[in-house]
Amino acid sequence: MSFEEVRNTIKEIYEKVNSESLDERDNLINILHAIQEYYGNYIPLEAAEVLKELTGKPLSKIYEVLTFYTMFSTNKRGKYVIRVCKSLPCHVTGGAAVLESLKDALEIDYGQTTQDGLFTLEESSCLGLCGVSPVMLINDEAYGNLTPEKVKEIIEEIKEKERSGVK
Ligand code: FES
Repeated sequence: MSFEEVRNTIKEIYEKVNSESLDERDNLINILHAIQEYYGNYIPLEAAEVLKELTGKPLSKIYEVLTFYTMFSTNKRGKYVIRVCKSLPCHVTGGAAVLESLKDALEIDYGQTTQDGLFTLEESSCLGLCGVSPVMLINDEAYGNLTPEKVKEIIEEIKEKERSGVK
């Protein structure tokens, strides 16, 4: 993927998102979301440089937004990004066992991606769903009241869906 290809892609995304939104800060977030979605859960580092050109904002400002939100990543990630809540309420309701079960099912640790490129495991602070702790997000979907058995079933369902080609 050349810098020119990245620039053209991001320019298209930028123009599309820009035409649909008015708020400047939200706009940058929306553009980063769209870029991340396009590239499959990560934002190429070149994107910051291209956005600097397109928006006229300093690179530091773009990095500030890019690095402030944990939902953005400049590292290649799997098709399914699993974010496990590590805050106290989730921890005391069985979060540690859930996490171990996930690591076991995926055979990876935090910050890693499975060899088939399907799953990336990340930690998160409170996801705002403490009432159904322990909690994890898989991409944008929340799963609560987790148990070690339940997470294994969820992972197996996704793998099965992928094997059968269901979208
Ligand atoms: Fe886990 Fe709030 S502490 S969702």
